[in-house]
Amino acid sequence: MSFNMIDFIEKKRDGGRHTKAEFDELIRGVMDGSVPDYQTAAWLMAVYFRGLDGGELTHYTDALAKSGETYSYPPEMRVVDKHSTGGVGDKTTLVLLPLAAACGAHVSKLSGPGLGFTGGTVDKLESIPGMRMHLEPDEFISQMKKIGCAISGHSRLLAPAEGKFYALRDVTATVSMVQLIAASIVSKKLVGGASGFVFDVKYGSGAFMDTEDKARELARELVALSKKFDRKSVAAITSMEQPLGEWVGNAAEVCEAIEVLSGRGPADTRELCAALCGLMLEVAGIAKDREEGAELAKKALDDGRALAKFGEVITAQGGDAEVLRRPLEILPRAKKIFEIKSDADGVLSELRARPVGEALRALGGGRMKLDDKIDHAAAIRLKAKTGDAVRKGGTVMELHYNDEAKLAEALKYLDGCWKVSETAEKPKLIADYIY
Ligand code: URA
Repeated sequence: MSFNMIDFIEKKRDGGRHTKAEFDELIRGVMDGSVPDYQTAAWLMAVYFRGLDGGELTHYTDALAKSGETYSYPPEMRVVDKHSTGGVGDKTTLVLLPLAAACGAHVSKLSGPGLGFTGGTVDKLESIPGMRMHLEPDEFISQMKKIGCAISGHSRLLAPAEGKFYALRDVTATVSMVQLIAASIVSKKLVGGASGFVFDVKYGSGAFMDTEDKARELARELVALSKKFDRKSVAAITSMEQPLGEWVGNAAEVCEAIEVLSGRGPADTRELCAALCGLMLEVAGIAKDREEGAELAKKALDDGRALAKFGEVITAQGGDAEVLRRPLEILPRAKKIFEIKSDADGVLSELRARPVGEALRALGGGRMKLDDKIDHAAAIRLKAKTGDAVRKGGTVMELHYNDEAKLAEALKYLDGCWKVSETAEKPKLIADYIY
């Protein structure tokens, strides 16, 4: 019997259960246009209220992943992928790709562009002159085999149905459902061909999930769903109350990643990168547990192997690897600096990440629409982080900018996003791990 979309919507509306064959038909219909957007949207809303059981979620995710091309690797390559749910100043992928590869894992990374107030890895790496961030599948796979890692923007050929569902969720108030988020993320991870996944699920003012509980719920769903596809999988629940590191901005984050890869850099960024790399090495079977993995990672940061691997990635993808030695000369830098100063002595007790991300976007460092042009040089430097002492008249933030009108816009977001008190604790960075 042919697929009837009205029956399909009715079934979910009334709490029924879909079969694998029905999901395959749904995706076929969405892709060939025989299922119109308004029916898909109605079904998404039914799912929002009725949910999907474990089997349905697996079939739906599988059908999304198989809607386009997929990459695959022999199991002995131990390919791992790391996914962050996104944040402000989150440059961990820039560090983890070469770091985990320097420790013996293969890392396959397909990344999306930055959208909204969170930055995107593709945009960051594109601030390196010559760097090509859209590799053809053949080139991607041969680079993986040659140097152990590759990174590319997500092609439209990979999980195209996911792109269609995401766009519809975005305009039907159905994005915020944990099962639909998990299916969206895991389907894109499956396409990348890794045999193990590490998820960095962030919570707080600069994260997709505002509370630790919601992040935990998503982390559980991501890990459980990945296991249904026989992928080894683990999630870290990490704080995004304040931005990560000292710099937020595309070229500036590349510069900070180079610092971390050189065994230096801000303590929070180094700690998170070592912990996430520890998980990647555990999932790849290279370390016996995450603690041993984190130790291996710190050694590779300190002895130059991780930095050398980053040089190999940059050269392989057409970039100027001289950036590792002379980042400040080679990366674009903004012409002007504006300083925000404290009007009291005390301790920084709040530095909300989201307004900082919004301010960077206002400076030109992010985009509202997919085809907006980015100013790679725009950046915000956080001279104090939560728990740091600040002096009256001392600089709390620097805005690095090229355009006065954009500066005025950015300053509106930063007004009230930080606070000075008598005392404040340094916040925890990693709340938990979910296996
Ligand atoms: N990120 C994704 O890739 N998908 C979602 O649904 C939400 C965040």
